[in-house]
Amino acid sequence: MNKITLNPERSRGVINKNIYGHFSEHLGRCIYQGLFVGKDSPIPNVNGMRKDVVDALKKIGVPVLRWPGGCFADEYHWEDGIGPQEGRKRMVNTNWGGVVEDNSFGTHEFLELCEQIGCEPYINANVGSGTVREMAEWVEYLNSEGDSTVVKKRWANGRKEPWGVKYWGVGNESWGCGGNMRPEYYADEFRRYQTYCRNYGKNKLYRIACGPTDRDYNWMEVLMERAGRFMDAITLHYYTICGDWTVKGSATEFTLHDFYKTLVRSQDMDEFITRHSAIMDKYDPEKRVGLIVDEWGAWYDVEPGTNPGFLYQQNTMRDALIAAINLNIFNRHCDRVVMANLAQTVNVLQSVVLTEGDQMVLTPTYHVFDLYKAHQDANEIDCYVQTETVGEGEWQTRQITASASEKDGVITVTMANLAADKLAAVTLEGVNAASVTGRILKGEMHQYNDFGDSPLAVEAFDGCTLKNGSIVIELPACCVAEITIK
Ligand code: AHR
Repeated sequence: MNKITLNPERSRGVINKNIYGHFSEHLGRCIYQGLFVGKDSPIPNVNGMRKDVVDALKKIGVPVLRWPGGCFADEYHWEDGIGPQEGRKRMVNTNWGGVVEDNSFGTHEFLELCEQIGCEPYINANVGSGTVREMAEWVEYLNSEGDSTVVKKRWANGRKEPWGVKYWGVGNESWGCGGNMRPEYYADEFRRYQTYCRNYGKNKLYRIACGPTDRDYNWMEVLMERAGRFMDAITLHYYTICGDWTVKGSATEFTLHDFYKTLVRSQDMDEFITRHSAIMDKYDPEKRVGLIVDEWGAWYDVEPGTNPGFLYQQNTMRDALIAAINLNIFNRHCDRVVMANLAQTVNVLQSVVLTEGDQMVLTPTYHVFDLYKAHQDANEIDCYVQTETVGEGEWQTRQITASASEKDGVITVTMANLAADKLAAVTLEGVNAASVTGRILKGEMHQYNDFGDSPLAVEAFDGCTLKNGSIVIELPACCVAEITIK
């Protein structure tokens, strides 16, 4: 039996629109070629930003974009990326492929990109190889109105008004590529760095501490105990991998066993958030400090023949299900999760967009963000799911994952059928519906969109009907759907 019971009387609060955020690093072809091609490119662009990609990102309502990394953030020195482009410092991107980074995409370009997309910038500053002064002056450069030497540099570079950037990350993966720190040491570093990041004018900074990876509960405990009162939020990273970190498995060639294994592993996100939230509750019962999952998604072996340091992978219906699973989990934890950023927007890991020269492909994951966009800033509503089990061998999973919200009298339920080859008959109860409509993304588990051949797209869904006060839904195998109830 598959049954979803909604209880609009019960809610965990508003689903912060930033849960639908993205992450773009100076890695492979994410920034260069993916988002930014430069003003002189024959590829249609506005001030160097790809027009096709920006338009696609606008359509799914990207609310916030994290930059410049990732591991790259802790080797990035922002002053290398301002001023006339031809004079900017060239550096080796030691984290990602050893390629030369010419810094032609820097602070001004990132802020322009955010303006074009219509999203908030989230800047991750360098703690690993940077200084407190460097971060403090970056904040000043972006946010201050005063005529200090730092601000005058901004004016000279063509920007009079401050941007008022709110979201600031203090280091990335400081337990790993961001400096291999111990939590006790990083907690003190966070306290020191955040002290000198000032609020300018009306802009109040939102200070984000580097949190743990998946099940490192000790990192969370130490950070919350020693530095919790100085932060607005703390991060969590968790990537879904099918194999192990040496052989992660192919994005497109996988068995049924791999398929279910990946989906089961992806659902570990729920356990990690639940257990990290419990630690946060101990030190912050009022839930003042947000949890930001600022790196998540599937990570496979790179596509054959591509640079191993560029992390370029295809994106199948399996990834669409992973996106649906995670977004439903975030919605259900909206009392603590205030932002999430899929890794990474274009051409890297679980991207929403792939590019090749002047061509662009929208991945199945893109379409899931389209199906889920009505949840942004809507009121979460309790959604109890009774579901059958599907799977292969030891990898057994619930067949249905779902979450629900309400905005302006309209209820949105998003759901996925995780079965590779089994239809799901779902009954949905708990609301008085006058009308029900749906949209769906469906396909065989290996299917993907490629250049010149994009079979997967969102379609109208006629498999949901009103019957004796309930809604009856016939969900095809391997699909993600949005049901709209009025
Ligand atoms: O997203 C790729 C990398 O994964 C990021 O640079 C790093 O933060 C994480 O380990």
